[in-house]
Amino acid sequence: MSGRHLLGVADLGTEGIDELLRLADTFVEVGRRPIPRVAALRGKTVVSAFFESSTRTRLSFETAAKRLSADVMTFTSSSSSLNKGESLRDTVLTIEAMGADAFVVRHSCAGVPSQVAGWLGEVGEAVVVNAGDGAHEHPTQALLDCFTITRERRARFASAATRPRALEGLHIAIVGDIRHSRVARSDVLAFNALGAEVTLVAPPTLLPPSLEGWPVALSHDLEAVLPKCDVAYLLRLQNERMTEQFVPSLHEYTATYGLTASRARLLGPETLVMHPGPVRRGIEIAAEVADSPRSVITTQVANGVAVRMAVLYHLLGSGAPVGA
Ligand code: NCD
Repeated sequence: MSGRHLLGVADLGTEGIDELLRLADTFVEVGRRPIPRVAALRGKTVVSAFFESSTRTRLSFETAAKRLSADVMTFTSSSSSLNKGESLRDTVLTIEAMGADAFVVRHSCAGVPSQVAGWLGEVGEAVVVNAGDGAHEHPTQALLDCFTITRERRARFASAATRPRALEGLHIAIVGDIRHSRVARSDVLAFNALGAEVTLVAPPTLLPPSLEGWPVALSHDLEAVLPKCDVAYLLRLQNERMTEQFVPSLHEYTATYGLTASRARLLGPETLVMHPGPVRRGIEIAAEVADSPRSVITTQVANGVAVRMAVLYHLLGSGAPVGA
């Protein structure tokens, strides 16, 4: 792994993922207490450094840090000295000088969390968690997705209890804008590490220029894939990262790749529907499907807090590296 930071799923390895998921299980219980707080990170400071819009990921990390009794410093790029021409490096080192133990970094450019880790390494011991960098990676989203599939299947279906590992042999379809999705990149790596088989379903224009080395199957026929999958994972069309028009029209996209109510009827009885949010109802997924019992979209959000507690605790609390 890349030392003490969490920059991508590859940093964790299968054992690292398993370990964090076990730890997250214990933090779910903390979240249910009347006072959902433990003292594990008292005296530590976590900086929430989001240089790109976010609702759930930022609030989830901040909630996780607070539940571990860490102090939280929130940095908002729009009201910072970056607007006065300060460089990203100087901004990061300024915050570090105030005494920060962890930086949770989101940025629209791939590679920024790794760059921040390099700068911080020149001056101290602070750790970096990648909260989403461009179209590159979003490792804590992948962890919470693995966690959600594991727990939901165990809770809902007796068949899940007989699997040696919850994702072993599962078929997961990831549908939509793979090309611009850091969630897809991290999910493919994590699902594969835990033994699932992944099929990408997208129009050719919404696939990365090359899938060489990706451990996936590929389909352009959503209706053929839906009856065979255990999880249908929908992605948003990420317009903010599109430099040209990738689909003829939203209407046409929905007609071919949307999980409409009639397509959802093709899913097996045990199939879960997932989405990282934000959801654009009526485009990649129909509102009634997003709200149906097989949809675990809000459970993903709830589980995100426990998973991020596990990550922060592991990196800051126990002193042990995540993964091998
Ligand atoms: C995703 C992201 O920002 O990468 N959302 C999230 O973190 N839950 C996916 C998206 O924006 O579509």
